[in-house]
Amino acid sequence: MSYDFDEIINRRGTNSYKWDSVNKADMIPMWVADMDFKTAPSIIDALSQRVLHGVFGYAKVPDDYYEAVISWFRRRHLLAIEKEWIIYTTGVVPAVSATILALTAPGDKVLVQEPVYNCFFSSIRNNQCEIVSNDLLYSNGTYSIDFEDLENKASDPEVKLMLLCNPHNPVGRVWTKQELKRVGEICFRNDVLVIADEIHCDLVYAGHKHIPFASLGQQFLENSVTCTAPSKTFNLAGLQVANIFAYNAEIRSKIDKAININEVCDINPFAIEGLKVAYSILESEHWLDELKEYLWTNYLFVQDFFQQNLPHLSILPLEATYLLWIDCSKLPITTDELAVKMLKEGNIQINEGTIYGKAGEGFIRINIACPRAVLKEGLNRMKKVFDQLPV
Ligand SMILES: Cc1ncc(COP(=O)(O)O)c(C=O)c1O
Repeated sequence: MSYDFDEIINRRGTNSYKWDSVNKADMIPMWVADMDFKTAPSIIDALSQRVLHGVFGYAKVPDDYYEAVISWFRRRHLLAIEKEWIIYTTGVVPAVSATILALTAPGDKVLVQEPVYNCFFSSIRNNQCEIVSNDLLYSNGTYSIDFEDLENKASDPEVKLMLLCNPHNPVGRVWTKQELKRVGEICFRNDVLVIADEIHCDLVYAGHKHIPFASLGQQFLENSVTCTAPSKTFNLAGLQVANIFAYNAEIRSKIDKAININEVCDINPFAIEGLKVAYSILESEHWLDELKEYLWTNYLFVQDFFQQNLPHLSILPLEATYLLWIDCSKLPITTDELAVKMLKEGNIQINEGTIYGKAGEGFIRINIACPRAVLKEGLNRMKKVFDQLPV
């Protein structure tokens, strides 16, 4: 490997949300979705140069920013987008929220697929809309879509939008072309617009392929808005940058207005520099390829650890993301209680499944994007807590 993902970098005292939220020196945080690795050297170099310039005034987004975005999605995902379709903003959550504001009236309903990324709930509620869940089906250790239920719920005339998480956080699925087509057809038939949150699209493992929802055909492109960012891919969440792709000019203009109403229409000089280098320099792609190898080996390591030590708990197949979804439903306590135990007795922070909706009960989510030595220590701590519980 050319990059040292084993390096342990002390993030405590760097105002890290993940590391500095609990004031305990020996805590291992395996919760918030960022990584404990340095980003690609190409990005660090570009940002360092920008710092040395020393003037940090308001930024104007240049043409080569758009070119970098367009070329990344064409090269990596075979998605052809045009400059005019792109709206930049400060994050995927602001993008989703502004899109809901733009395309709903208070009281409208928005579909999600629980268990799902928790900020979807706040974005819907903050815009005075109602959450309707087409819960995912869990069977034989994997998740699928309940199409009958989706058809039923989408047919409610008050349902205006569907928030599709692809790849899916937290269950780790990469939706197939067939699944996406069925979702798209149901939504189209029922006049429900799809907001595709594709923030995890670059962290997909061998044997699976990310299919951008908008790439499925003209009808899918017209009846959707896609939200993306380099933040998960390159560990740049703190730079705060994301892009919305909206083909339909009328929808785009409404979103643009909402982005302005919410005042999330300006990005900073580091966001621009970071995104350009992430998306356009070959070295960044090499780094990403090695990162994915490292994350995959971490996943195999966790799987092996559980098989050897905790065979009554099952790790779900990881098709994408660095977030593992673990079935703890055989335990005699709730996963809310388990998370508290992990924190108090194990000195480890994990996410209880219920923050992703009621359908998350019985599961926990752990973040495995850390050096292997930290991962090992985290797993040993988890085992100590699990071992106290009767099976
Ligand atoms: C599905 C999904 N969307 C959005 C976000 C956050 O995006 P941002 O930090 O760009 O607002 C996350 C972070 O974990 C996520 O998992």
